[in-house]
Amino acid sequence: MPAHRHRLRFLAAHIGLRPAAAGFSTAAPSRGCLLHAELARRGAPVAAALALYSRIRAAASPTPYTFSLLLTSLASSLPRSPPSHAAAAGLAHAQALKCGALAHTVVTNCLLKLYCALGLLPDARRVFETAGAAVLDVVSWNTIVSGYGKSGDLEAAREVFVRMPDRSLVSWSAMLDACVRADKFSEALRVFDQMMEEGYKPDAVVLVSLLKACAHLGAVEMGRWVHRFLEAEGFWRRPGNVMLETALVDMYCKCGCMEEAWQVFDRVRSHDVVLWNAMIGGLAMNGHGKRAIELFRMMLETGFVPNESTFIVVLCACTHTGRVDEGKEVFKSMGVHGIEPRREHYGCLADLLGRAGLMEEAEAVLLDMPMEPHASQWGALMASCLVHNNIVVGKRVGKKLIDLEPDDGGRYVVLFNLYAVNGLWEDAKAVRQVMEERGAKKETGLSFIEWNGLVHEFRSGDTRHPQTKLIYALLEDMEQRLQLIGYVKDTSQVLMDMDDEEDKGSTLSYHSERLALAFGILNIPHGMPIRIVKNLRVCRDCHVHAKLVSKLYQREIIVRDRHRFHLFRDGVCSCNDYW
Ligand SMILES: *[C@@H]1O[C@H](CO)[C@@H](O)[C@H](O)[C@H]1NC(C)=O
Ligand SMILES: [Zn+2]
Ligand SMILES: [Zn+2]
Repeated sequence: MPAHRHRLRFLAAHIGLRPAAAGFSTAAPSRGCLLHAELARRGAPVAAALALYSRIRAAASPTPYTFSLLLTSLASSLPRSPPSHAAAAGLAHAQALKCGALAHTVVTNCLLKLYCALGLLPDARRVFETAGAAVLDVVSWNTIVSGYGKSGDLEAAREVFVRMPDRSLVSWSAMLDACVRADKFSEALRVFDQMMEEGYKPDAVVLVSLLKACAHLGAVEMGRWVHRFLEAEGFWRRPGNVMLETALVDMYCKCGCMEEAWQVFDRVRSHDVVLWNAMIGGLAMNGHGKRAIELFRMMLETGFVPNESTFIVVLCACTHTGRVDEGKEVFKSMGVHGIEPRREHYGCLADLLGRAGLMEEAEAVLLDMPMEPHASQWGALMASCLVHNNIVVGKRVGKKLIDLEPDDGGRYVVLFNLYAVNGLWEDAKAVRQVMEERGAKKETGLSFIEWNGLVHEFRSGDTRHPQTKLIYALLEDMEQRLQLIGYVKDTSQVLMDMDDEEDKGSTLSYHSERLALAFGILNIPHGMPIRIVKNLRVCRDCHVHAKLVSKLYQREIIVRDRHRFHLFRDGVCSCNDYW
């Protein structure tokens, strides 16, 4: 037993493992060491690791160290490994069990990490539940929480997290990451608040997750707090953490605060391509297409090599500014930079053409591209067909979309709208009927607005908010005032929603962004911008509405929808009605 222990410590030091609580002697390693050292070299193929293990077993009896090494080796050879991995993991597990090695915390933790890395959460859970409480330490608990989080199972992560006997910063970090991965951004902010209340000090990993959540929610006040925290902690004086800096730039861009994004960008000492992409993409999204393209040229001049994402954001910039020729040129130049256009790039090109009204050309790009386009790419073209009212291409694309995604109600709605706008009521009715027969559902529109440290959520026609009465009263009043300055309710908005017949024209079913907007006007002081985040594309009517409201109430309104940013100021939008 002592022999096992000293080897355990020696190798633990090698592979950066924490020894089990029992403590080990520090005597020099003995025989079998060479084989162990070989096993400790990471990244060996699965078969080689298993073969080494067999040789160790033949030479001497395997120790807990052997298993720590074997399991770690299996976990580290992941990216290149076939599915036979699960079998290898099972084999190593059985061997460790047979030798009683799972009584050691280190070995159990290695096994948990391996199963989690393979995404075999049920297996990890079984190991976790059958290990005695004395074997498990905070690392074991963290591994399970993080494993569930990475596999997208927030509920399970939460359930384990609340049962933890002790937590470390890593536990909170894993939980925060789990929320962000599951798109539960408000919950991420709550987890962070709780963590701060318990007196933990956030590290870079936590702050990156937090900034991601802020970016998604448009929670710029929280994001600014992170920025101030970094300043106060002297993060800028240390060698830059480019991940953190990029997250900060991205957050400011996604919240529409371009000046602050620039300030951070300019202060970064060692830029990398991801940071450039964030800044170029941010400019494009915020309607500064020209500056985005200029920054891209500057990036090339400075000698940075663009990557595939760079071209996506640059093409996007061309799309949002209607620069068809420049976009085509950028697309062609990809080859010069050694980048093979992928599906997304073709999609961007098609979108560029479609939005500029070149529907046939856009359709040809999607039909001729070397891979099968995604439904969302056809969806973008369909949206353009609706904007340009092109029934010829729209009919073809609309039908294709319904074939591709028969369960997505939104696909029927656009074709329905296209028919209805053109007075083809029989065709429209038929589409609606098929939709009802198949029970297809439309995604619920959600809008978020941050105020006083809270994120308020609204859905279409929502009446859950405590200020509901005030909000609806304001909206009605607003409508009357807007009519005086020429606002005419766009009937296609009603079509777009495809509400029940009796709802048509009803002023009571407001889209979620209008409720959020009214909430903002009611609560956010004059002089401060109103920032709204919406999960779907803003409809045409709400877009017109927001422009007029910005003029009438003299408010700056920033709306981020699924596709881009809209800054409404004095009756115009930064997107130049390109969205
Ligand atoms: C390219 O940049 C994006 C971020 O903008 C990053 O996610 C991606 O990993 C990069 N690709 C390569 C191959 O480095
Ligand atoms: Zn709307
Ligand atoms: Zn706009």
